[in-house]
Amino acid sequence: MDFTSVQGKVVIVTGASRGIGEAIARVYAENGMKVVLAARSKDQGENVVKEIKEKGGDAIFVQTDCSDADQIKNLVNEAVNHYGKLDGIVSNAGIGMGGFPLHEYEDEDYDKIFDLNSKAVYIGMKYAAKAIFETGSKGGFIINVASIAGIMAQRGQALYTATKHGVVGMTKAAALDYAPYNITVNAICPGYTKTSIFGDIPEVAMEMFAKDCPAQRMGNPVECAYLALFLASDMSRYITGAAIPVDGALSAGHQNVTQWKHPEIRNN
Ligand SMILES: NC(=O)c1ccc[n+]([C@@H]2O[C@H](COP(=O)([O-])OP(=O)(O)OC[C@H]3O[C@@H](n4cnc5c(N)ncnc54)[C@H](O)[C@@H]3O)[C@@H](O)[C@H]2O)c1
Repeated sequence: MDFTSVQGKVVIVTGASRGIGEAIARVYAENGMKVVLAARSKDQGENVVKEIKEKGGDAIFVQTDCSDADQIKNLVNEAVNHYGKLDGIVSNAGIGMGGFPLHEYEDEDYDKIFDLNSKAVYIGMKYAAKAIFETGSKGGFIINVASIAGIMAQRGQALYTATKHGVVGMTKAAALDYAPYNITVNAICPGYTKTSIFGDIPEVAMEMFAKDCPAQRMGNPVECAYLALFLASDMSRYITGAAIPVDGALSAGHQNVTQWKHPEIRNN
């Protein structure tokens, strides 16, 4: 594997102050990409940039509320003004919401979750695609962080599921638009990944998530970041319009009960 093709590429990562976005920003910077980190929290975002720079990376922070279309437009402008071009965007900022049946949502929850999880992805793609064209990137890429909820519905997550199915659909449609112009568009679909999106859920509940997963553990944010690096590289130019799970087989199918004929073959 040769990731030298990503060196010098300019990329925006939204929701980069923590969790999956932070891991992606760090892995990109470690591999020589110029990273524009966006998030609402100035302190957290600037701290990640500081640590990236201390390790020799090149990054800037642009405080951005991705629920606001104008702020995303500004983010893309800032990236182009600072680095002179744009090669890619990772629209990762998102919120979870739910854990209860559809009728228990508040009416205003719809706009709240759609503004960030869905509209921000659309606006990010729109302005980033324009900038990728206008600044003459060779090998542009768009990555949207969806979810396994973009592939299969989650009980108690009606609105979240709707936003993430929308992201997968937009990703595929945009891939068709841009495939002739060598701009790839893909979705990363994390399964249960250890980040603060779970809030203050007790450890015992986290263990239940791990047990629910065929791989018997939760994912680590950096496991999504490695896929994001591959999708930014020239090695993945023929992969576009894909929604790729990083989920320990959680979305692969239903876990029927099985009985091994020869369990002794297992060494762990
Ligand atoms: N962690 C999981 O298990 C999991 C599973 C599937 C999908 N995802 C998706 O991965 C993405 C990242 O989630 P995470 O788990 O790292 O969550 P997280 O809560 O740890 O991080 C979310 C990031 O988004 C930022 N953010 C939130 N609202 C924002 C806004 N309005 N404007 C700008 N930035 C904002 C936060 O500051 C933070 O940097 C989300 O889109 C989420 O839906 C996560």
